[in-house]
Amino acid sequence: MKKNRNILVTGGAGYIGSHTVVELINKGFNPVIVDDFRNSDPKVLDGIKSITGKEALLRVVDVTNKKQLKAVFEEFSFSGIIHFAAYKAVNESVDKPLAYYRNNIDGLLNCLELAEEFNGLNFVFSSSCTVYGEPKDIKVVTELTETQEASSPYGATKQMCERIISDVHKSGSPIRLLNLRYFNPVGAHPSAEIGELPIGKPNNLIPFINQTAAGILNELIVFGNDYSTEDGTCIRDYFHVVDLAEAHIKGYEWLNNLDGPKLETINVGTGNGSSVLEIIHIFEKISNESLKWKFGPRREGDIEQIYADTSKAQELISWSAERTIEDAITDAWNWQKKLGNE
Ligand code: NAD
Ligand code: WQD
Repeated sequence: MKKNRNILVTGGAGYIGSHTVVELINKGFNPVIVDDFRNSDPKVLDGIKSITGKEALLRVVDVTNKKQLKAVFEEFSFSGIIHFAAYKAVNESVDKPLAYYRNNIDGLLNCLELAEEFNGLNFVFSSSCTVYGEPKDIKVVTELTETQEASSPYGATKQMCERIISDVHKSGSPIRLLNLRYFNPVGAHPSAEIGELPIGKPNNLIPFINQTAAGILNELIVFGNDYSTEDGTCIRDYFHVVDLAEAHIKGYEWLNNLDGPKLETINVGTGNGSSVLEIIHIFEKISNESLKWKFGPRREGDIEQIYADTSKAQELISWSAERTIEDAITDAWNWQKKLGNE
């Protein structure tokens, strides 16, 4: 019997979703994107088409609307779901907690209920290193590192979603479940056809650097220079978004080959940390631009340094990051140059 290659990709028009849709198409899957473009642009579909030569299937649906989402399950038969659709801005979640709980929790509940009802047995969930909170006295976290209280409503939604997924598994559900805890995905597709499209002023470091160099923003404020790190700035585990997309494919294929219910959680990162100053220097070298930046006060809630122990990803799904931080910054800058001053 021919294997079912249909996969529902919620939030597939977004930053990580669009890169994953490209890799899914390249691997012969039939992704069906469900997205209502609340944080993305329909133009991403043109980018996906020019990279893969194929039109991605799209249904413009709000995943929190179960009736609309159910209609998509009635139209297609899915082998499983990759669930990206969620709100993701830490600061915004502090101002709009209800919107974050509603969207991130309801979306997950609808997807899980429909996965059970329609026998879509593989389920990959976009989790985040934010679930670790501020780890006590450690920098490298494994999946067994105790999670601390989330520092934002956004982080709390990811912890709650993981809890819901765990309870579903314990209930004897047949769904095969995989939480991917992403560290700091950055970069863009090397073709510069798709990339990150922050709406409004970006919060994350790499888009902020790019928009400063492109003249859209005045200058970058480096949040704090008195941390206990070599150069005094925070350290993160940045890695290429195409590597992350590939982790979804490997994770999905691993789920697909299981012969019974399962729940696993995997860190996705490189295992190496870079400081903010190191990132600025790499950017300047690659772009030949001199970046306007200055030190400012610490950002509230920032963790001094955190990076992933990635051995489980290697052991379980045979994944490790292949691209360098230089590759990621090169691709992100090429994408920004293509966008111009947009
Ligand atoms: P993104 O905002 O670019 O993509 C999310 C997509 O989901 C958008 O296209 C948006 O329009 C869509 N969406 C949101 N709510 C929806 C709804 N109710 N119905 C339909 N569509 C909806 O974000 P991203 O960076 O691609 O992140 C994808 C996932 O990965 C999110 O769950 C995020 O929390 C998680 N994550 C992201 C990062 C990161 O650094 N980008 C890190 C860790 C985890
Ligand atoms: C990186 C470093 C800043 C902007 C976020 C989310 C987290 C997860 C990953 C989703 C930090 C510094 C930044 C600026 C700066 N996402 N910085 N000036 O903080 O690791 O985490 O992305 O799940 O939940 O919180 O990433 O890109 O915001 O910051 O100095 O203008 O850059 O202080 O050290 P972060 P980031």
